[in-house]
Amino acid sequence: MSSAFSDFHLKGHDFDNRFVVAPMTRTSAQANGVPSELMGDYYERFAKGGFPLIITEGTYTDQEASQGYENQPGISDAPQTDGWKKIVERVHKAGGKMILQLMHAGSQFQYNRFTDTPIAPSAVKPKGEPLSLYGDVPGWPEPKQMEEHDFDIVMNGFIGAVNRAQEAGFDGVELHAANGYLLNEFLSDYFNQREDKWGGSIEKRLQFVEMVVKAAKSAADDDFIVGIRLGQITVTDPDYQWPGGAEDWEKIVSHLAKAGVDYIHTTDTDVMRKNLKDSDKTLAEVVQEVSDIALIVNGNISEKNYEHVAAHYPNALLALGKKALANPDFPERVKNPDQVKDLDFAMLQPKATLENEWKWREQNEESAS
Ligand SMILES: Cc1cc2nc3c(=O)[nH]c(=O)nc-3n(C[C@H](O)[C@H](O)[C@H](O)COP(=O)(O)O)c2cc1C
Repeated sequence: MSSAFSDFHLKGHDFDNRFVVAPMTRTSAQANGVPSELMGDYYERFAKGGFPLIITEGTYTDQEASQGYENQPGISDAPQTDGWKKIVERVHKAGGKMILQLMHAGSQFQYNRFTDTPIAPSAVKPKGEPLSLYGDVPGWPEPKQMEEHDFDIVMNGFIGAVNRAQEAGFDGVELHAANGYLLNEFLSDYFNQREDKWGGSIEKRLQFVEMVVKAAKSAADDDFIVGIRLGQITVTDPDYQWPGGAEDWEKIVSHLAKAGVDYIHTTDTDVMRKNLKDSDKTLAEVVQEVSDIALIVNGNISEKNYEHVAAHYPNALLALGKKALANPDFPERVKNPDQVKDLDFAMLQPKATLENEWKWREQNEESAS
């Protein structure tokens, strides 16, 4: 039977268990987007704790509209690249592999050093309120609908970011097309209300994402992983569904697999949630059915369900968010399940910075690791 402690092979990389740290924004870079030393301590700790693969927080790609949060790290210039290089070296030395998540904020735009105007498929604001976890802002600014030259800027940003991620020594990149950020917005009929070649049918809504995958693959060396994170939910709308349900999703998966993406990382509120319209399947079950592409699955994986999830998705790595924050040594600790802790959200208050986490650990743990 397929176990969470089986070996796993992904594009020339071998892992001795199947646990992955999910991407998590910590807004702890320097103001200029250069990763901080504390970020090195944070990421290295997961590798030392037995996670064979770490996906970084969403990282901005260009010096235009891609940044979405204050103190978010970037990979848009040489100093940011050098900062990441130091962190990757520490993670590699501790035995972990590292994938950089590339994120363009789109309309989920709370702070940007370079511009006050978000760009998005259409001039549509996200539902709900901005996230106080990443800084207090009064509301969402109105985004500008992307014009043809904006497509070139975004595309060049992603290509430049792939090149710099390779220079920094990362093992791969993950294109962030989930949670309501720019690439995800193209797939959504709420955010993407265009009537030109970029909007309408799922084939048209998918087209820009497909082009970014192909461009990232062309920029990447042969052994460099190019994955993509996908899902329906957004940070302020956990119930969004693609209008064409399972049919839309099957097309997304098969087009992106054909475009050459190395893995698909599905995310939902729960890895077993069946939330596609007209379907009784989970996102990851559909991927398993329509392609043999490698999978990363995410959503509420814990000490209680991980073996069941590993057996149910035999071709998948298991990405942990909150459980990894609460237990940076989860792969070791889970061998004694009653030692596994739940996340205390006070650790991320008033903002989700590493400084606040470190303070929380000093107060709540005998020795902060
Ligand atoms: C503090 C925090 C920051 C997050 N930042 C990101 C991010 O930068 N990129 C991303 O794709 N998901 C992000 N997420 C979502 C997680 O990757 C994950 O999908 C979510 O926590 C659900 O998984 P879990 O049930 O294992 O926690 C974040 C989650 C948390 C708790």
